[in-house]
Parts: sequence; C-alpha cells; structure tokens
Amino acid sequence: MKKTFALLPIVLLLAAFTPASKTTDPEIPADVKPLLEKYGCTACHSISRKLVGPMWTDVIAKKYTAKRIIQLVGKPEPQNWPGYPPMAAQKVPKADLTKIANWLSAKK
Ligand code: HEC
Repeated sequence: MKKTFALLPIVLLLAAFTPASKTTDPEIPADVKPLLEKYGCTACHSISRKLVGPMWTDVIAKKYTAKRIIQLVGKPEPQNWPGYPPMAAQKVPKADLTKIANWLSAKK
C-alpha cells in the first residue's frame, strides 16, 4: 500500500505532461514554426489536419523541390489541389521563405 502512494506523484506528473506534449507539433522545426505563425500560414495550414488549405504532410508528400515551393507560394497553382479554394499569393521575404521551403521539400 505504501508503495502505491509513493508512485502516485510520478503518475500524476506523467499525466500532467502528456497532454502538453500533444498540443505541440514536434514535426515542425523550431526555426520554421514561428515563421509559419508570423506570416499567417497557420490560419489555413496545419501539420496533420486539413484546414482551408492542405495539411503540411500532404504538401511534403508532393516531393517538391525548395525552388518549386518558393514559386508556388509566390504564384499559387490552385489546379494542383482540386477541391480546395485557391490560395492567394503569399508575400514572404526570400530568406524566410527559403527556410519554409527547405523544410517542406526535405522532409518525409
Ligand atoms: C487563406 C488561407 C491560406 C493561407 C493564409 C496560406 N495558404 Fe497555402 N494554401 C491554401 C490553399 C487553399 C491551398 C491549396 C490551393 C492552392 O494551392 O491554391 C494552399 C496551398 C499551399 C501550398 C501547395 C502549393 C501547390 O501548388 O502544391 C503551399 C506550399 C502553401 N500553400 C504554402 C503556404 C505558406 C508558406 C503560407 C504562409 C506564407 C500559406 N500557404 C498561407 C490556403 C492558404
């Protein structure tokens, strides 16, 4: 019985930390995430949920080159995404857009 009570704080600690780790997106690198927020991309895109735009996982699955992603963000081609409304051209400074594009092209 004493042993059970000794474990209780540990169990509570684990329970407290589990939901927190679910709300963060570990797949979005720490240097890219703030950019997606800063330029408003997160309003329409999420890593694993379809919002107004396709989820990042689906964009990554297209295996674009970084160069192509930079092109598409500046001049979207809505025909690539049947069933979605067209995305407006996004104005993102080149250096930041390159970081976003490298991530969307390089990963899984
Ligand atoms: C108002 C909603 C909205 C915002 C804000 C938005 N997007 Fe999109 N995005 C979409 C939609 C809808 C599509 C699919 C239709 C299309 O490509 O036009 C899309 C498609 C894309 C694609 C895939 C392009 C292709 O042709 O395969 C990329 C990459 C992308 N968005 C990146 C971004 C980035 C980076 C930002 C922030 C700078 C951003 N989006 C902001 C709605 C949005």
